[in-house]
Amino acid sequence: MKRNLTNLFILLIALLCNSGKLAAQSGITPKPLYEEQQKGTFTLNKKTAVYTNLEGEERTNMLSLLRKSPLKLSKKGKLNKKNTINLLLVDKSEEFPSLESYQLSVSSLNITITATSGAGLFYGVQSLLQLTNQNKEVEAQKLPAVLIKDTPRFAYRGLHLDASRHFLPKEFIKKQIDMMAYYKLNRFHWHLTDGAGWRIEIKKYPLLTEIAAWRPYDTWKEWWKNGKKYCTKENPKAQGGYYTQEDIKEVVAYAQARFITVIPEIEMPGHSEEVLAVYPELSCSGKPYVDSDFCIGNDSTFTFLENVLTEVMELFPSKYIHIGGDEATKKSWKTCPKCQARMLSENMKDVDQLQSYMIHRMEKFLNAHGRKLLGWDEILQGGLAPDATVMSWRGEQGGITAVKAGHQTIMTPGEFCYFDAYQDDPSTQPEAISGFLPLKKVYSYNPVPDSLSVDERKLILGVQANVWTEYMPTLKHTEYMIYPRLLALAEVAWTAPERKSYTDFYERALKAIPFLESRGYNAFPLKDEVGERPVSLVRENHLAVGKVITYKNKYYQNYSAGGDSALVDGLRGGWAYADHRWQGFIGKDLDVTIDLGSSMSIHSISADFMQIIGPGVWMPRNVEISVSEDGTTFTPLKQIDNDVPENKEKLIFRDFGWGGNVTARYVHYVAHQNNKGGFIFTDEIVVK
Ligand code: ACM
Repeated sequence: MKRNLTNLFILLIALLCNSGKLAAQSGITPKPLYEEQQKGTFTLNKKTAVYTNLEGEERTNMLSLLRKSPLKLSKKGKLNKKNTINLLLVDKSEEFPSLESYQLSVSSLNITITATSGAGLFYGVQSLLQLTNQNKEVEAQKLPAVLIKDTPRFAYRGLHLDASRHFLPKEFIKKQIDMMAYYKLNRFHWHLTDGAGWRIEIKKYPLLTEIAAWRPYDTWKEWWKNGKKYCTKENPKAQGGYYTQEDIKEVVAYAQARFITVIPEIEMPGHSEEVLAVYPELSCSGKPYVDSDFCIGNDSTFTFLENVLTEVMELFPSKYIHIGGDEATKKSWKTCPKCQARMLSENMKDVDQLQSYMIHRMEKFLNAHGRKLLGWDEILQGGLAPDATVMSWRGEQGGITAVKAGHQTIMTPGEFCYFDAYQDDPSTQPEAISGFLPLKKVYSYNPVPDSLSVDERKLILGVQANVWTEYMPTLKHTEYMIYPRLLALAEVAWTAPERKSYTDFYERALKAIPFLESRGYNAFPLKDEVGERPVSLVRENHLAVGKVITYKNKYYQNYSAGGDSALVDGLRGGWAYADHRWQGFIGKDLDVTIDLGSSMSIHSISADFMQIIGPGVWMPRNVEISVSEDGTTFTPLKQIDNDVPENKEKLIFRDFGWGGNVTARYVHYVAHQNNKGGFIFTDEIVVK
């Protein structure tokens, strides 16, 4: 019913927008649902006072935030008096379809924000702050009169930060919470545990923070390459840290005052090397530094996890507790006697069901304590727990499957929501995991797949950006990856689709960069953006386009780039191997013959490859190019050995080609697998 009201409200607003009233361009991000220019200006000055009918803690928090805001509003005012900002809780009505809805009216006399909850008033204040000039101290500033009516598209608007791979101090977390609130995000997903370090004090299990929170390596990469070892804080090389329970309470309260719910994530059953190093009895091998998955046959695993979650629930009031669930290898379970015994006694046919058994048990435990289980989409494997909510990261399919089974979901697909990908031409950027996610692509995301019915759509709670920090060794680097992409995500999450426009947003994002910098945030300099790989933007019409290509070995199905014609379709790849333009081969050579249809004069034959060693993408060991008139006897033209160093960490492209003059009908192009194993990728065999 509430959703229907929301839809009705949006429809009414859309009608209003077209009613001939003067639409305002307030410059607010995320863009409000409705803005109407009014006559006159309001002068904000030192005498501007604040009146609110909020009570209790919400009142104290609100007044304190306004006092500390750049506007330094501390004068107490009276309702509707001149030069007063009124913050008024009003009764629920159709005008306010959600508790987060608000209306903001700036007139020449005063400013009034109305909402049906503290959250709504808070968002009205964030919009007001954005209407003001916060970059310099001004004696008095004039605000154009405006009427804004606003409501969020989604109830869940999230940011995830990975504090395991590189520890993120609580001050950094609070700083990001400030900006989340400013852009009306309301869920902070705190990735507190993972192989690279346990980050939350658990009183019952002190080794988690005495040892598993520290490692003798500065960066995740060094730790990963050198045996994934931990140490104590006393080790002179110790790097890492953890949040004490007092730190956690402080962050949770800080976020709460800004209407942000903090959702803790405790990883299980995979990504748990750090736990199993200090409590090896919870692993299948019983030895440290062997397993990454908990042993599910062992009842002490459940005792441990339930004890941990008990302390976690005491610290986090969030309804959702995230239990991870992603990327368990499930390897040791196949031979572990305890896991096998559990599978036998529970009548399970595979290890997916064993994982599902564990998630079901954890859900029961959380439910018994009044909480709800949230997990990455692998929790669908082997059967989803009855009340679980799915966070869809491996594309949208997990979310779609969950919704079709009647479960709620949060969309966070890698392609649009993973802020660990490059945001611009990789040669101009700090190292990233791989991929290419420019601002425009984040902005283009629609979290509601077209394939869903009206009822199914209601189960999409919202959307979240994920910041995995493997390749972000410094806090500055982490911020650089977050901003300004977080603004685009905020608009995806808040703004009605019919109000979105990238050109309009881009102008606002450009202006946001100096603002973010003035507040001490390290943002990507959007004005210098290069954009997509230039060759990928135009179709190249060379001699092989549309010709018959024969493969000796099949490409890898998930990286088919559209199939057999991909290497002769005139379409070049972008900066990311997963952009459906690059064709991948693993364990096999790329070995193709192109029939040009008739004998012709050829001057060059070439293909580009890329190397990005994080995900295991390598240059070919060497390439052999030959031609033939009859398709049987081939004349070698060139053999090219790879000369790209294998320790070159950043993404690099290289073309392997021949140039000269030859007449031929058939082109044979062979790229041999690299000795490293992994993938080789190319996007086009260009014949000219
Ligand atoms: C994930 O990115 N492994 C959830």
